Amino acid sequence: MRPVLIYGAYGRTGRLIVEQAARLPGWRLILAGRDPGRLAELARPLGLETRAFTLDRPEAVRDGLREVGVVVNAAGPYAATAERLAKSAIRVGAHYADLCGEEAAWRQVKALDRLAAESRVALVCGAAVTPGLSALLLASLVARQVLPRFLGEVRIVLSRPDGLGSGSLRTLWESSLDRVLVVRQGVERTVPVGRHEHLIDFGATRPGPRIAMAAGLVDTLAVADTLAAAAIRADGICSFVEAGSGSRWLADAAAWAAPLRTLPTSRPMAALAASLLDATPVEPLVVALQVEDPWRAPLVDQRFTVPEPYSASAAIAVAAARLLAQAQPESVYGWKGIGTLLRGQSELATSMDSLEPISR
Ligand SMILES: NC(=O)c1ccc[n+]([C@@H]2O[C@H](COP(=O)([O-])OP(=O)(O)OC[C@H]3O[C@@H](n4cnc5c(N)ncnc54)[C@H](OP(=O)(O)O)[C@@H]3O)[C@@H](O)[C@H]2O)c1
Repeated sequence: MRPVLIYGAYGRTGRLIVEQAARLPGWRLILAGRDPGRLAELARPLGLETRAFTLDRPEAVRDGLREVGVVVNAAGPYAATAERLAKSAIRVGAHYADLCGEEAAWRQVKALDRLAAESRVALVCGAAVTPGLSALLLASLVARQVLPRFLGEVRIVLSRPDGLGSGSLRTLWESSLDRVLVVRQGVERTVPVGRHEHLIDFGATRPGPRIAMAAGLVDTLAVADTLAAAAIRADGICSFVEAGSGSRWLADAAAWAAPLRTLPTSRPMAALAASLLDATPVEPLVVALQVEDPWRAPLVDQRFTVPEPYSASAAIAVAAARLLAQAQPESVYGWKGIGTLLRGQSELATSMDSLEPISR
């Protein structure tokens, strides 16, 4: 297996990735990040190698990635890390995977597709619960050939994400608060936050009809990728997040707050507020995938309950890293959708003790 470097190893998700990967036989793991003290503390009991480097000097990053086969980037917000680390990975010939849920950073990495393909390197964004789960569900439907060539709406709906960690909250703050991406007839558009809602029943875990609001999840882009690769056309693709009855008020507040993010003091204040919330326990998450036929009749309506989303994200990142570390090279060069990479890994769903499929 090719050596795997985990950057951002001592973050909340990074630690879970290290913990899960260290349990597997045959891995050569290298822990990396910018704080040598925290790296040493994490690596010592596991007997693992560490490399401390920041991402602002490309030569230092390239040196940090020497002899590495796969880079797993667990350091977010990804606006500050994804493109830099992906470019350096390409330069040293290492595959790159991250847990990116940010639209702008996702596009920056995707734009490196040709460079990566020419350098015989794979790029995988979003090896995490969002968009990993919806992408995995959709890719397995495509593989089983249960979808016709033309579809109505495809919706990805998440239950309310209670108990997010500080990293995810800082990432949310960096993301678009006032507009939401949708794909209509294959064309990307944006709609104002709070003007597009969907009523959903999440099943036994969260019964009853609940309001979900259109949200800027990269699941929309991942689903569009998977459908395009299979030459399937959908009338619309949109992601939603459960927002409760105060959703319109929240949407208006988010749109109002959007310009505040340009103030120099806004980022440290958001980081401080996020860190105060870090101790909140994470609630189970329900991910729903709904697919309509061209006449708008329900074709697929699936739910996954994920009791611990951070562990599940780590499991998806570890599965992606394992595939890349063992991959037959030609099968993975260039931009690779997370669903396409993990398709056929049905054991991922069952082996993740936290994943419980509910189909209807
Ligand atoms: N899509 C999903 O489903 C999903 C799931 C889980 C996590 N995530 C994403 O993964 C990222 C990490 O989440 P987390 O909860 O683990 O956050 P966290 O606990 O705050 O950890 C963030 C890590 O990133 C490092 N980091 C941040 N900015 C950096 C920079 N500019 N240069 C180098 N290192 C940097 C931090 O190191 P320092 O302490 O040295 O700053 C830390 O190790 C977030 O963006 C989050 O949204 C996504």
